[in-house]
Amino acid sequence: MNDRVIRVGVVGAGFMGAMHARVWQQIYGVEVVGVADPDSARCDALKEWIPGLECYSDFNHMLEQAELDIVSICTKDDFHLAPALAAAKAGTHIFLEKPIAASLEDGEQIIRAVREAGVKLGIGFLLRFDPRYSRAQEIIASGEAGEISHITARRNSPAIEGPARYGGSLPLPLHVTVHDVDMVLWLLKHTTPVSVYAQTTNKRLGHLGTEDAVFAIMRFADGTVVNLESSWALPAGSRTLLDAKMSILTTEALFEIECGESGLYHASESMNRYIDTQHWPLSQGEIKGDLREELMAFVSDVRNGTTRVATGEEANEALRITLAIMESAGSGAIVRV
Ligand SMILES: NC(=O)c1ccc[n+]([C@@H]2O[C@H](COP(=O)([O-])OP(=O)(O)OC[C@H]3O[C@@H](n4cnc5c(N)ncnc54)[C@H](O)[C@@H]3O)[C@@H](O)[C@H]2O)c1
Repeated sequence: MNDRVIRVGVVGAGFMGAMHARVWQQIYGVEVVGVADPDSARCDALKEWIPGLECYSDFNHMLEQAELDIVSICTKDDFHLAPALAAAKAGTHIFLEKPIAASLEDGEQIIRAVREAGVKLGIGFLLRFDPRYSRAQEIIASGEAGEISHITARRNSPAIEGPARYGGSLPLPLHVTVHDVDMVLWLLKHTTPVSVYAQTTNKRLGHLGTEDAVFAIMRFADGTVVNLESSWALPAGSRTLLDAKMSILTTEALFEIECGESGLYHASESMNRYIDTQHWPLSQGEIKGDLREELMAFVSDVRNGTTRVATGEEANEALRITLAIMESAGSGAIVRV
């Protein structure tokens, strides 16, 4: 595996899958040999960057025919199980977009299948590859900042993003809050969550069948308290496409991560916005940012047997806590986890 080209296939060529295909193709020593999506126009559009790309309408055919080393699964949150099980059966290493699944049972089945097949599973919690988050995590893990006392995290975006793409078919916490839940669990690895309490509101997006915002409080066994805010109801004219922040107060330090004001402001006759310099910024004809770092880390996990990308077990824990947040928001009660 160390000295040969890694063959990658992508399942789902929507917003994320198209990005994955382009980023994989940029990585030295990697070749994108197939993309599977029943919407063939989505795969065809990628040929501009990946000439000679083979398009499949059925991911099973790609897994049978394309001799893949890695498959990137980028279907919607509630359709991860079938492609993941098929990939494990085919003996292919799996990079699966977050959340691992929409139910704990699906997540557990995926984890079992990859264990039995002896393949790697990495989950797309890309904040772990943003140096602002990862550097804070490293300093805290070194012990030099003392002990975490509390964390506040916010992840807000306009309704022209998630709600427009998913038409209200996905719950906000499962799609958005899960990023911060994973980050908080990563920062607080030495302890365990004991309870969550959450509330939602749906004044603006209720007609689409989704929430405007969720607010959640998590409590940990060591006494740490975490406050999470996620919304996808900002107006289209919002000055950021992703207003994300995290503030971590420890017994000896304060860390403030500011992602909304990205350092690149763009105002024109038709727009007025900070544009992405974090996740997948286009620069010098390539997609850079934490997504690229994450996929490169997965290549190294596959080539060298390391574990740099979030594991299936970690992702199922983030899912378990996120589902408890949804349960609490529904019942109005504190949920013991
Ligand atoms: N890491 C991040 O920051 C981030 C951001 C956005 C989305 N995501 C995740 O990426 C995943 C995909 O989200 P998206 O926004 O790209 O969704 P999307 O709706 O844009 O794309 C999904 C694609 O899957 C295709 N599809 C449907 N059935 C299929 C099948 N049987 N076989 C192959 N393809 C099929 C659809 O045609 C569509 O092109 C989700 O799990 C989402 O949570 C992650």
